[in-house]
Amino acid sequence: MFDSPFDAVDFAGLRLRNRFALAPMTRVSAEANGRANAAMVDHYVRYAKGGFGLLITEGIYPDQAASQGYAYQPGLADALQTESWVPIVKAVHAADSKIIAQIMHAGAQLQYNRYVDQPIGLTEQKPMAKPLGLYGDQEAWFEPKPMTETDFDQVMNGFLGAIRNAQAAGFDGVELHGANGYLLNQMLSTHFNTREDKFGGSLEKRAKFILDLVKSAREMVDNDFALGIRLSQITITDQDYQWPEGEEGFAWLVQALTDAGIDFIHTTDTSADRASLRDGDRSLAEVVQDTGVALIVNGGINDENYQDVANSYPDALLALGKAALADPAFVRKIQGGEPVDALDFAMLQPIANVENEMRWRADQKD
Ligand SMILES: Cc1cc2nc3c(=O)[nH]c(=O)nc-3n(C[C@H](O)[C@H](O)[C@H](O)COP(=O)(O)O)c2cc1C
Repeated sequence: MFDSPFDAVDFAGLRLRNRFALAPMTRVSAEANGRANAAMVDHYVRYAKGGFGLLITEGIYPDQAASQGYAYQPGLADALQTESWVPIVKAVHAADSKIIAQIMHAGAQLQYNRYVDQPIGLTEQKPMAKPLGLYGDQEAWFEPKPMTETDFDQVMNGFLGAIRNAQAAGFDGVELHGANGYLLNQMLSTHFNTREDKFGGSLEKRAKFILDLVKSAREMVDNDFALGIRLSQITITDQDYQWPEGEEGFAWLVQALTDAGIDFIHTTDTSADRASLRDGDRSLAEVVQDTGVALIVNGGINDENYQDVANSYPDALLALGKAALADPAFVRKIQGGEPVDALDFAMLQPIANVENEMRWRADQKD
């Protein structure tokens, strides 16, 4: 018999009522100054009431410099932004779920920033393809300014400050966004990172900043505050990128993160089971699972395959993006044997904010 994903679990020091997590989803619905608002309280509470044991927030920017990537993205960079999250955290806790803040630095993958005129990046390399229409109408990527040592120090301070703020706001933990082409992911990527200094070259060097960040964060936060990282090879505009080091390199990275004090690793791919590493036939999630560190899996989990994914990763949380977007009550309905709603991307038009979603939902009822 397999464990039911609906049973309560202990995960990275958190007691969760089940193994279902809301995947982080940027909804560009904050105030222009980066403060969270009442619409976001209602938005997140839907998922807690819909049965998700853990909510991971949308990517939140950590500093009032080059980290913001989208207009109306929320921040955790100052006291007022920090306070603005408290009602969300309280409401989610009152509905019996836990909530983790995803901390995201855009780096070169920046479509709008209210604080600076130019993105920073590892090099002048831009992301592939075009910016995402879901978050605004920017036609082309800006050319990033290659980061200096001072920039690295400022980014480090920004992340540590935002993690401290997340703890002060009452979050149960943070997830560093090391996936999907944002700054920490750019560091690991040989598409972006062709530096020849201590931050570029071998995987050990490309991971140096991330490992230093995890060590410093671990020393700073309380023991019961979950410290995790999301990792992918894919980016929002390139689903084929592979790290040159393959499975051995990824296993090294997972171990190094664990040694640095990470509590969980969240893998994301086009599908949770995809064998996407350059060599070998295991998924990112299987490599993490083998090391024993707490795991969140993501990619294509839905009402038809969730039990198979839960069986393949018996201790992991299952993070749902599009299936949760389609139906915030996914977990409650599946558990009760009810059908769930399918995703209609029209709800995210013309941009992916909560207001457009709510208008679309109201129109469906008419
Ligand atoms: C509207 C939207 C916004 C997203 N924003 C984020 C984000 O802020 N941070 C992140 O790590 N992933 C983000 N993602 C990716 C999802 O977390 C998830 O990895 C992806 O949708 C694949 O999982 P799924 O098949 O369950 O949807 C976003 C996805 C969507 C559809």
